[in-house]
Amino acid sequence: MPLFNYWRWFFLIATSLATILFINPSAAKSRPLVTYADINTICSKTEDQPFCFRVLTNQTFRPYETNLLGLAKIPINLALSGAFYINEDIPPLLKQAKNYKEREAYTLCSQNYNEAYDTVRKAIRFLTKDDYRGLRVAALSGGEEAKACGNNNCSTQPSCLDPEKIELLHFKMEQKKSHGVIALFPIPYQGHINPMLQLANILHDKGFSITIIHTCFNSPNPSKYPHFRFLSISDGLPEDQVVPSGNSDVLALTNALNLNCVTPFRDCFQELLSSNDDDPIVCLITDGIWHFTQAVANDIKVPRIVLWTSSATVYLNFIPNPIPHDYERGDIVQENDLESALQFVASVFRETKASSGLILNTCEDLEQEAIEKCSMGFSIPIFTIGPFHKYFSASSSSLLPQDQSCITWLDKQAPNSVIYVSIGSLAAMAAKTEFLEIAWGLANSKQPFLWVVRPGSVPGSEWLEPLPEGFLEMVSERGHLVKWAPQQQVLAHPATGGFWTHCGWNSTLESLSEGVPMICQPFFADQGTDATLITDVWKVGVRLADKIERGEIEKTIKRLMVEEQGQEMRGRIMLLKEKISLCLQPGGSSYKSLDNLVTYISSL
Ligand code: UDX
Repeated sequence: MPLFNYWRWFFLIATSLATILFINPSAAKSRPLVTYADINTICSKTEDQPFCFRVLTNQTFRPYETNLLGLAKIPINLALSGAFYINEDIPPLLKQAKNYKEREAYTLCSQNYNEAYDTVRKAIRFLTKDDYRGLRVAALSGGEEAKACGNNNCSTQPSCLDPEKIELLHFKMEQKKSHGVIALFPIPYQGHINPMLQLANILHDKGFSITIIHTCFNSPNPSKYPHFRFLSISDGLPEDQVVPSGNSDVLALTNALNLNCVTPFRDCFQELLSSNDDDPIVCLITDGIWHFTQAVANDIKVPRIVLWTSSATVYLNFIPNPIPHDYERGDIVQENDLESALQFVASVFRETKASSGLILNTCEDLEQEAIEKCSMGFSIPIFTIGPFHKYFSASSSSLLPQDQSCITWLDKQAPNSVIYVSIGSLAAMAAKTEFLEIAWGLANSKQPFLWVVRPGSVPGSEWLEPLPEGFLEMVSERGHLVKWAPQQQVLAHPATGGFWTHCGWNSTLESLSEGVPMICQPFFADQGTDATLITDVWKVGVRLADKIERGEIEKTIKRLMVEEQGQEMRGRIMLLKEKISLCLQPGGSSYKSLDNLVTYISSL
């Protein structure tokens, strides 16, 4: 097959693979469609900024997403764009070569690019298997090969940096010098790990080195974060510790973790401090729920900043009188756990007040009043820099494999037609009968549905066993059931028209950011308050009746998906989506707050 056709074939496959390639080979030499500032931003995420800059200033391309996958794409594209020159640049250069030395350089170059091409193909295979580490390694080595030639021949190739570009680049590289190390300690539940690792990525992007201290239970996968250091501590839990479900279980486990981890955390942190002379630890960021860490931080004399993973409104619920607030109180706990829960809440609040700052995963346009009230009630600085998932997706911190069949199924559905059902990572149904009512409600609604039934969320069953025989056949292509979904992708899909949610704060933010109105079925903790925000404050969702019954479910789904009330909610949530997006843009409230946070941490 001629080389050119080979390339076409290769690009066809590559572009269809999760749209990973954004370089159009035929336009490789045309004027860039993006600004130097964009290119600087992109290249600042790569290992080899000058090379990235040099290559990209000669490409027509689309900017990458700022997530791990996006980062991995850079070296792939670098290698690819380098490899592309085999086809175009090298043969004519070889022909024109004036002497043996030049010919040798171009031949070597050609070999480098062939290698690059091979490693890129390998990298793409890794990508299809979701193996980002393998992908990154292969892609980087491809990039290296391509770079070897680029360096050799810079003086003769048209893509050399001109002085103006070099200046820009140096400016950016100055900015990227490490600001020191931040140690982060997430609470080991999915809804807490996601925002903590997203925050870690955000701060890494701002020039800090990152160390994640984590428990063995629900440990994040370090291979998804080759740019972080991971330190694991003993948590005193049995090896077969199951993920808790329901308020009492979660509270009991959280209390146990706060007791068991004191010594291992202290030892680990002390060791980290003594081993990090070159790159100093600038601060510790822990989940607010790790209340014991304030005492450790005080002893060791390192400032602690708290990450609060719920809404500001819920945080207000933590602030005791006399700070007045308008939202309902008391949905933090259920009655039988009251005493233990009150003690827990008091510890979290006391130790947060004693910390050096508070980061909230929210933005002013969503919760302005609550944020202002929080600020009034605190002497420590508050940073509202969210929603975090708009900077970095949660998929790399997913503890369960995300079933990608959802996306293929969604691709076949009409726009805004699908109701997506998920109750998050901890909530569980009260009984099998409830599960059956939901199944029939969904089936009878006649609306296409994508239902996440997390193993363990239906009492007394492994997965779908309680469904009556023939149910799945009857629903057929109209329903798709999975154990765990790529939720952000699902919510961003044009076919998704509604989200039946437990109102966890991450889910709420993810839905708002994609403009998907909600059916609210709060279970425990902060979820009741979030449901109130969704239905009564922003008016972008309906609340499911307390009694889970198929007729009610059918009516509620229709209200949201087909009736006028649902359309009105869709209109309102699209406006909110726009506002959230503006918060993150230069000049927006979250953007400014993030700048303030970086300045603040650097000054500690
Ligand atoms: C818990 C509490 O329930 C929640 O109220 C609190 O704010 C955080 O801790 P969780 O139940 O996990 O959180 O819900 P949520 O906050 O919505 O977080 C779930 C995360 O898992 C989201 O980021 C979501 O994208 C992800 N997810 C969920 C998946 O990746 N796949 C799924 O199938 C479902």
